Amino acid sequence: MNPVVFYFSGTGNTRYVARSIAAGLVGTPDVRSIESVTAEEADALIDAAPIVGFGYPIYGSDLPQPMKDFLSALGPHPGKTAFVFCTQWMFSGDGARAATRYLHRTGLRIRFAEHFRMPDDVSVTALRLPYTNDPARLRPVLARADRRAAGFAAHLRGTPDSSLLRLLHPRRGFNPFSRFLGGFQRVPFRATYERWRDDIAVDLGRCTRCGLCVRLCPSGNLAYDAAADAFPTHGTCFLCLRCYDFCPASAVTYMKRPHDPRRGEPYRGPVPGTLSGLLDDAAPGKRRQTP
Ligand SMILES: Cc1cc2nc3c(=O)[nH]c(=O)nc-3n(C[C@H](O)[C@H](O)[C@H](O)COP(=O)(O)O)c2cc1C
Repeated sequence: MNPVVFYFSGTGNTRYVARSIAAGLVGTPDVRSIESVTAEEADALIDAAPIVGFGYPIYGSDLPQPMKDFLSALGPHPGKTAFVFCTQWMFSGDGARAATRYLHRTGLRIRFAEHFRMPDDVSVTALRLPYTNDPARLRPVLARADRRAAGFAAHLRGTPDSSLLRLLHPRRGFNPFSRFLGGFQRVPFRATYERWRDDIAVDLGRCTRCGLCVRLCPSGNLAYDAAADAFPTHGTCFLCLRCYDFCPASAVTYMKRPHDPRRGEPYRGPVPGTLSGLLDDAAPGKRRQTP
């Protein structure tokens, strides 16, 4: 009986944390991208596991759409122990608690929840938020996340770590104040998201037609029409930024703006090898669904 951890990760941060938590669990945890598992397979894995975890990146104190869809499709698992974690650059308030809305129906018992600060993956020129690919600046952020993951895993194993806070509050983000703060960000985010989420395009002048963006897209939004030499989109973008961040030619645009080379490369994930891990998650045949 091995634990199972499901995650969605746009640009590798949540994948990194899922593995870091799993490293501290007993047995041989099954760490699965939700891109590579059907709801039926997930239900079977949950039934066979002593404990199940769910992780996702925070988008405006909310869950990414594929995680909402995945959780909503799960069957009943009354009383099974579960944990939820989210990764965020700065703040989510009740980011982990936000999943309860989608898990409620399953009967899973969410006993533990944690938030992890990770590097910012929003490197789009239009917003000019600070980000970095500098390993020296990423290292302390990852080390902190690893320490938190080790403490969290110890708690999941039933050997509470030295953190008194975690002992008293095993579910971060579940208190009313966090909920208020999360709602403060989530409500306006949800209200405006539809207007600006679907704005990814490809600058054909820069594009080398390598097709990486199409292979990476987790929602089937991007396609390549060879006859027309065009990249039609299907309105399913939820702005994970995987295509934008990993395009080797920085040819993907957001709000009509390509990446500004003066800012260096877009965010390329927490560690070297992130791209191949994400490609593996999204490999044809493994991929769960394209809307
Ligand atoms: C559309 C979008 C919205 C985001 N909103 C927030 C936010 O509200 N608060 C925050 O701290 N980070 C926010 N971030 C940053 C990500 O949550 C953070 O970098 C996360 O670790 C990315 O994980 P991933 O690499 O697994 O996709 C946002 C990122 C994106 C793409």
